[in-house]
Amino acid sequence: MYRVLKATQLAERVFQMWVFAPHVAHHAKAGQFLIVRVHEAGERIPLTISAIDGDAVRIIFMTVGKTTELLATLRQGDMIRDIAGPLGLPSEVSKYGTCAVIGGGVGIASAPIIARAAKSAGNHVIGIIGARNAGLLILEDEMRACCDELFITTDDGSKGVHGFAADVLKAELEKRTIDCVWIIGPAIMMKVTSGITRPYNVKTFVSLNPIMVDGTGMCGSCRVQVGGTTRFACVDGPEFDAHLVDFDLLMQRQRTYQTEEREALEQYHEHSCSCKGGE
Ligand SMILES: Cc1cc2nc3c(=O)[nH]c(=O)nc-3n(C[C@H](O)[C@H](O)[C@H](O)COP(=O)(O)OP(=O)(O)OC[C@H]3O[C@@H](n4cnc5c(N)ncnc54)[C@H](O)[C@@H]3O)c2cc1C
Ligand code: FES
Repeated sequence: MYRVLKATQLAERVFQMWVFAPHVAHHAKAGQFLIVRVHEAGERIPLTISAIDGDAVRIIFMTVGKTTELLATLRQGDMIRDIAGPLGLPSEVSKYGTCAVIGGGVGIASAPIIARAAKSAGNHVIGIIGARNAGLLILEDEMRACCDELFITTDDGSKGVHGFAADVLKAELEKRTIDCVWIIGPAIMMKVTSGITRPYNVKTFVSLNPIMVDGTGMCGSCRVQVGGTTRFACVDGPEFDAHLVDFDLLMQRQRTYQTEEREALEQYHEHSCSCKGGE
């Protein structure tokens, strides 16, 4: 059992949780993730290790379905049934020169830990964080503190540059040399943004988010195509060379259980409504 030390809401449908998990905290590195099971009969979901502080790890998640909604109901002192991790390979951090760390939407959750690692390795770090609107932007202060420069974009122009992270990246690539780029966000955003670095031949990593079940290479549910080869994102990734990833297949596979996920969420809502009605 893992105690929730602190739970706060960062933005609409986005929650931050610090959890006491020494075995994860003491071994985790940037780019790795953990698998959470909220209760005994619960589904296992992967979440990025967003920060580490002593014996505690931070997760940041958006409520998109049954399990994330359930997780969002937990408060300080509540218990999470299982946490497995750290899982996956750490980010390939070394001294590249100038690096850009780009987070889109809830993908910003992964950005500071990578930016900090890149900075510690001696890189000049450019942060670019983007969201649909100002209210959905998270971790701005944290990114400002760990990056040498920070750009903000919003789709509706309510803060920072009006547009996408890809637009800022393109403008910066036209002005100067960037040696390495990390992009973390929705699959479509990673596909479009990594398309910008391709003609410049810049080493570009993306953190893939296929459906995962065991997280240890046993079930095959997280398989992705990278450079024409099948890889398991949980053990071979989750970070891969962006220019080799088949994003269309990733997006297609992410939709595999849409009907079941919708039904599970409806049942969860019906159940929680009837529980409240009976109080
Ligand atoms: C390595 C990795 C790291 C991730 N880190 C974060 C993070 O830091 N913050 C965050 O908000 N989200 C993260 N995700 C996505 C997160 O796992 C899903 O949002 C979550 O599993 C949804 O579960 P649900 O029951 O609430 O929603 P559901 O209704 O079950 O599903 C909603 C959508 O979430 C995705 N999803 C569902 N089940 C899984 C699963 N077992 N594995 C992966 N994706 C699934 C599917 O695309 C699905 O269409 C990460 C995914 C991966 C693979
Ligand atoms: S999640 Fe099962 S093999 Fe990767």
